[in-house]
Amino acid sequence: MSRAKICGTGSCLPAGRVTNQDLTKWVDTSDEWITTRTGIKTRHVAVKGEETSRLAADAARQALKMTGMQAEDLNIIIVATITPDMTMPSCACLVQQELGALNAFAFDVNAACSGFVYGLDVAEKYINSNPCLNILVIGAETLSGRTNWKDRNTCVLFGDGAGACILTGEESGRGIVASKLYSDGRLFNLLKMAGAPSMNAELARDDHDGSYIKMAGRDVFKYAVRCMEKAVAAVLTNAAVDIEEIKLLIPHQANIRILKSLADHLGIDYEKIYINLQKYGNTSAASIPIALDEANREGRLVKNDLLLLCCFGGGFTWGAMVLRW
Ligand code: UT7
Repeated sequence: MSRAKICGTGSCLPAGRVTNQDLTKWVDTSDEWITTRTGIKTRHVAVKGEETSRLAADAARQALKMTGMQAEDLNIIIVATITPDMTMPSCACLVQQELGALNAFAFDVNAACSGFVYGLDVAEKYINSNPCLNILVIGAETLSGRTNWKDRNTCVLFGDGAGACILTGEESGRGIVASKLYSDGRLFNLLKMAGAPSMNAELARDDHDGSYIKMAGRDVFKYAVRCMEKAVAAVLTNAAVDIEEIKLLIPHQANIRILKSLADHLGIDYEKIYINLQKYGNTSAASIPIALDEANREGRLVKNDLLLLCCFGGGFTWGAMVLRW
């Protein structure tokens, strides 16, 4: 049976880091508050020359290196991001030109923090129709550029970075086993980033309140736990897999308390959850692929092991995926 299998991973973090201590100089916060409420200690912040497309391309180069493929071997490039360098062209097209991947077509996916899992799901559909395709899926963000550094409710949470993987068809049964995606646009107001207002007065939104990311944290927290729990239950049923069979859960990295609560609700050993948010904060669509690449390079992903991904983000969007590594 042919499945869409991840054959290489990569990641890229900007050089600059902002510690919790640094943040205390700009907003009324403390290392103690940030650490106990979120688990985050530092986050990477990009500067000029480290735009989303550059981070994405660097992560992609690492993934290509791991597979031994050349950029010309890629057929499709999918970038999950809510912080593209420009509205048009897509970040994926900029990555294509950075890599010289001239045999590919490229497009972005916007599903906020869930974008990478959405991207994998789209890639799987293409590979199901043609297992010979090589598809690059990237999650990349520079949310530092859309963060209000005077708002302590949000500025302590986010970080920049990119993670990438390359998928191709494989007959061995390894690869994506099942996925389950959801969204609920009725809840859009709880987590949003409005962007530029329309220049057409007829189309301009009355409730446009600036370009910064805005979040009703407490509400988002509750939905995140509930939604990811349900998505995981559904995808495990679809995959005919018990939670005990999962060797590693790589969740979206937003808050350590969300992950602890999720572990309790799912009945999964906390040690089976891959956590790196202390180093990177919430990198939105980049968080799962960065964690995937780290876990891969640390040797935590063992051939034929069952992995679980789960995500939650603005939209709301959420979902879960089971993979046989
Ligand atoms: O990636 C997409 C998904 N995103 C998420 O999953 C994030 C979900 N939400 C969260 O992670 C948490 O809700 C936060 C970390 C954002 C906030 O934690 P919380 O425990 O829900 O705190 P809160 O918003 O209820 O605020 C508690 C108190 C408030 O003070 P009062 O009103 O009790 O006096 C806040 O003003 O903490 C205050 N506060 C802070 N204090 C120090 C909020 N931010 C800070 C801060 N430093 N940075």
